[in-house]
Amino acid sequence: MVEYVSDVEVPAEDAHFFARDEVITFMDRIENLSQRHPTNILITGKQGCGKSSLVRQFAAYYNRPLATFQIGLLSESGQLFGEQQLRDGETCYQQFLFPKAITLPRCVIHLEELNRPEHPKALNELFSVLSEDRRIWVDQLGLVKVAKGVVFFATLNEGDEFIGAEELDAALRDRFYVIQMDYLPSNIEEKVLGLKTGVSEEQARSIIRVVNRLRGNTQMPLSVSVRHSLMIAELVSVGASIREAVIYSLQLSRDLLESLLLSVHMETGDREVRADGYRIFWRNH
Ligand SMILES: Nc1ncnc2c1ncn2[C@@H]1O[C@H](COP(=O)(O)OP(=O)(O)O)[C@@H](O)[C@H]1O
Ligand SMILES: [Mg+2]
Repeated sequence: MVEYVSDVEVPAEDAHFFARDEVITFMDRIENLSQRHPTNILITGKQGCGKSSLVRQFAAYYNRPLATFQIGLLSESGQLFGEQQLRDGETCYQQFLFPKAITLPRCVIHLEELNRPEHPKALNELFSVLSEDRRIWVDQLGLVKVAKGVVFFATLNEGDEFIGAEELDAALRDRFYVIQMDYLPSNIEEKVLGLKTGVSEEQARSIIRVVNRLRGNTQMPLSVSVRHSLMIAELVSVGASIREAVIYSLQLSRDLLESLLLSVHMETGDREVRADGYRIFWRNH
């Protein structure tokens, strides 16, 4: 069986990560609060709106190691901690990264896709580490205690095809502070495209205009994430036309795209969004 984890390292900062002012302030409060006791944060929002990036940036900014666990892949309880393995004809218990990470001081524990483990019972053992006493008895390991300064971030994809946060077990949800994230305002997203891919301001503006058209298209609204708009911009930055880039990035039919591009050309009324209150969340800024 595979270990569903990545390494425990301080991640690199993203020099072009934008977040709402209040979210950046809140991150500072979490940093302070976590010095008193382990703290749990739940981030909700649509796919590709920057949830994982925020967790990573928090870890990078405060110089903390980050360990990520795909909760969506868990199919039985006990699976986070370790498993019995057969070695040279003998069984022995192999400890996984989770017990190591939660006993590492100041570690950021990212629980991805908390809303959809393959087996609901898989969440049981999380209750103990997220609850007040912050410890769990594991037969093979003994008492595992959450270390000082540990912060748990759970992320949860909200949208049509996902179970919403409100359906998340209330007892589990009660243990978290909740941050609700949304897609970036247009002019900030344009900046991100320019900074991250090198497309010109004009190209970025055109891309976001098309993308917003797709997002606001009433017949067939598409959820186009920042990840998608970045993919489009990457292609444009190496010479693709916007038309071509959109087709390859979003699997759109040419017909739909043609009528869409036509409407973008004729109308200029862009999606109305508020851009004030956003700034770069980066230490060296
Ligand atoms: N606020 C933001 N500022 C800069 N880049 C962003 C922002 N939000 C998302 N991105 C970019 O979009 C992509 C998807 O973000 P991600 O954090 O993986 O989304 P989620 O975890 O919500 O699905 C990443 O490549 C990230 O760099
Ligand atoms: Mg994510």
